[in-house]
Amino acid sequence: MPKFESLDHLNEYRRQLRAKRDPKQPQVLVCAGPGCLPLGSEEVAQAFRAQMEEKGLNGKVALKTSGCHGLCARGVRVLIRPQEIAYQKVTPADVPEIVETTLVGGGVVERLLHEEPETHARCQHKGDIPFYRGQQSIVLRKLDVIDPESLDDYLALGGYRSLRKVFFEMTPDDVIDAVERSGLRGRGGGGFPTGRKWRICRDTEEPIKFVICNGDEGDPGAFMDRAVMEGDPHAVIEGMIIGAYAIGARRGYIYVRHEYPLAVKRLTLAIQQAREAGFLGKNILRSGFDFDLQISQGSGAFVCGEETALIASIEGHIGEPMPRPPYPAISGLFGQPTIINNVETWANVPEIINMGPEWFAGIGTEGSKGTKVFSLVGAIHHSGLVEVPMGTTLREIVFNLGGGIPGGRAFKAVQTGGPSGGCIPAEFLDLPVDYDSLQQVGSIMGSGGLIVMDETSCMVDVARYFIGFLYEESCGKCTPCREGLKQLKKIYEDITQGRGEEGHIALMEDLCAAMASASICGLGQSAVNPVLSTLKFFRHEYEAHIRDKKCPALVCRPLLKYTIDPETCTGCLACVRECPVGAISGVKKEAQEIDQELCIKCGLCFEVCQFDAVRRE
Ligand SMILES: Cc1cc2nc3c(=O)[nH]c(=O)nc-3n(C[C@H](O)[C@H](O)[C@H](O)COP(=O)(O)O)c2cc1C
Ligand code: SF4
Ligand code: SF4
Ligand code: SF4
Ligand code: FES
Repeated sequence: MPKFESLDHLNEYRRQLRAKRDPKQPQVLVCAGPGCLPLGSEEVAQAFRAQMEEKGLNGKVALKTSGCHGLCARGVRVLIRPQEIAYQKVTPADVPEIVETTLVGGGVVERLLHEEPETHARCQHKGDIPFYRGQQSIVLRKLDVIDPESLDDYLALGGYRSLRKVFFEMTPDDVIDAVERSGLRGRGGGGFPTGRKWRICRDTEEPIKFVICNGDEGDPGAFMDRAVMEGDPHAVIEGMIIGAYAIGARRGYIYVRHEYPLAVKRLTLAIQQAREAGFLGKNILRSGFDFDLQISQGSGAFVCGEETALIASIEGHIGEPMPRPPYPAISGLFGQPTIINNVETWANVPEIINMGPEWFAGIGTEGSKGTKVFSLVGAIHHSGLVEVPMGTTLREIVFNLGGGIPGGRAFKAVQTGGPSGGCIPAEFLDLPVDYDSLQQVGSIMGSGGLIVMDETSCMVDVARYFIGFLYEESCGKCTPCREGLKQLKKIYEDITQGRGEEGHIALMEDLCAAMASASICGLGQSAVNPVLSTLKFFRHEYEAHIRDKKCPALVCRPLLKYTIDPETCTGCLACVRECPVGAISGVKKEAQEIDQELCIKCGLCFEVCQFDAVRRE
């Protein structure tokens, strides 16, 4: 890779790169994203390598490992271009057939095509799969196209072309103006307008400023930022160069947790490539602008995603939040004005410059522009990553893209916004998802976690889980959060273990009011969302736990009661043999009985009885 001394040099290189590439050349893209990698992407890619060698296809067919293809539930995914044939659940054993049938013969391997869960219809092309059809990709656009370790791949798709406009046609003010006009809001949590934040920072008098990429992503189950850092690392770097130019920063940091080693590896390589190519360093493309980047690794604490804690962590201090103001845009890293944005926010910026702010502002809703990436998980057929225009309804995401709920079970709720988001019930399925509408129903966009729950979820238990997580992750610096979470956790344990009391709900509401108003940072302030939203929409479940000592979803074990129906029991004694505490007794070939004092509610009798004689309530 040459060092690009000027725009002409870069343009000429890009032209030659494109001329060398035949768009009709067959390509095999093996997904090596966070979902597929543990399922054996490397082995699948290796099998392709060996088969292609054997069949003399080297040089004729390009083989790449790429970032996440989105539909992670059906990994390892393989995409064959240019036909866009999408194969799912590919193992090394399937590869000879794919090579023979598709690469050599031009046909398709039917059994590896995507199958719709309800209709069982097979979809041959990526574009035929409903999961992809309803999406609009800006940030994920290149993930199943490029090899994330190849700067050439990124350049061939127009990578770093925004720098021409930015450095040579726009002043820093023009850049900020464009980001403001685009309507881009921060994708990491609060949804603060990005351009406004940049302007506040630019307007400070300080000569030394910083930009930071927040790649901490501590929400359980979320992996959108990880997928972007691993699958398209140069997009983040390009966005940061633009932001640094806009505010006048010479130095930037990408903060990534060490549990994301592949993201660290890919970003490290991308930074090195960008430096060697002259996109980072002194006098970038002879623009007179200097900027360089480094990675700072976090140790995986959820609170370190909070911007002031993250800054403290980069500075080498304990990752504890600080009261704001001052906001980092005024006084951030080492006390200097600092812009901190989320991975997805940064990755949107080059496209806003390339395509224009009006294009971006034309997507989405009045108050929330562009698209949003969601990590769709839980009780859903198609878990994975989706990117949809802001304003897409929950129903569209859960049922059309996500394929609905497995096992014919009923939808119960969707939790948005990570552990401190709220649980939204079925009555709001037609809610257009954007920052404001989610807040109106007691939830948040957060960074884009979307957990689907079906009728088998107990909403009291769900809230108990999130409060337990936040209790563990609270830094303990301020009393409302530290003590509030401790008390909430205790109350949830009481309620789910049959010790719920009449006053508990009111007490929880009081605790939430104190935490929301007096906690130092967003962790304590928003920890109330799972509590208040479940209390609002699923109060009857709390009441059943507290008053009737029953868990309607049959999840909270201490509240369950196992009995044997004497009419149905055949006295086969299968349950007697399984019961670990000898709680079942009776005469052989006659109805058995459970001693409630001895029963530990393990459920084994329920599972082994072949005559449906064991009742659980
Ligand atoms: C407890 C807590 C955890 C957070 N974790 C993240 C995170 O993992 N990634 C992120 O981008 N923002 C996270 N945020 C939000 C950041 O504080 C900050 O608002 C964000 O990085 C700003 O970038 P944006 O304007 O592009 O959204 C977190 C906030 C809180 C209170
Ligand atoms: S709100 Fe919680 S996490 Fe935030 S500073 Fe206070 S104790 Fe720490
Ligand atoms: S397994 Fe079922 S049928 Fe057999 S003894 Fe137990 S309850 Fe009765
Ligand atoms: S639930 Fe477990 S402990 Fe209770 S009777 Fe059945 S097998 Fe025995
Ligand atoms: S990781 Fe392979 S499809 Fe998401």
